[in-house]
Amino acid sequence: MAKLHKYKSIVILTGAGISAESGIQTFRDQNGLWENHRLEDVATPEAFKRDPALVHQFYNMRRQQLLSEAIKPNAAHIAIAELQASHPDVFLVTQNIDNLHERAGSSHVHHMHGELLKTSCTACPHIGETLVDLSVDDLCMACGESATTRPHIVWFGEMPIEMEMIFDKLMNCDLFISIGTSGNVYPAAGFVQEARMAGAHTVELNLEPSMGSSAFAEHHHGKATDIVPQYLSKDL
Ligand code: OAD
Repeated sequence: MAKLHKYKSIVILTGAGISAESGIQTFRDQNGLWENHRLEDVATPEAFKRDPALVHQFYNMRRQQLLSEAIKPNAAHIAIAELQASHPDVFLVTQNIDNLHERAGSSHVHHMHGELLKTSCTACPHIGETLVDLSVDDLCMACGESATTRPHIVWFGEMPIEMEMIFDKLMNCDLFISIGTSGNVYPAAGFVQEARMAGAHTVELNLEPSMGSSAFAEHHHGKATDIVPQYLSKDL
């Protein structure tokens, strides 16, 4: 831990790979979610207009899985929470819609692609919470409209959440660590370039080289539960 304390401002980006060993499927690995579902059918605003029941079914299954007893934060989530507890400035931004960072003890988790346990409304600005399945018959608790409640997920073609704050942190960090993401989806895939422009040291921790691997100054490849605790405690 001590070595990372030479950095004043750390930004950590996580993706599906950090939760893989907790039992949550990634998107693009073998047997990943996008191998068995067309993202155009379940993860776009057009899909929700066309067939909201199918979209609800897809996210209801993800939510039920997340809430099952088998799914728990792993050593990588815990190592990040421990770093946050001992370092004054660790900004954690995740593309994941699970709550495993929070359950590991992280506070201020910036969910740029939304959260599975939240709902939003297509008719009003209400954001709610849910531990149960959503359906087309749900009424919005704020405006009372029916069939407008949707999972609070950023779909393809929509604007990720809190981008201004995230870019501000990237432009002012001196260490950027990317964990468990394939680097396929922008804007997150471009964060390494922003951090480099800020003069930050850039580190990739992933099972294998990502799409944008060559942009990183330092790489460690392996399972998140091995390399993340090792890197954050600087055994690597
Ligand atoms: P991907 O499924 O695209 O990539 C997961 C990455 O994690 C891959 O590079 C794997 O090699 C790596 N990985 C797998 N298991 C690992 C392990 N045990 N330890 C370390 N790394 C491991 O997931 P994301 O990059 O997060 O967006 O995907 C980005 C976005 O694309 C998601 O947020 C989602 C998706 O479409 C939306 O749904 C809007």
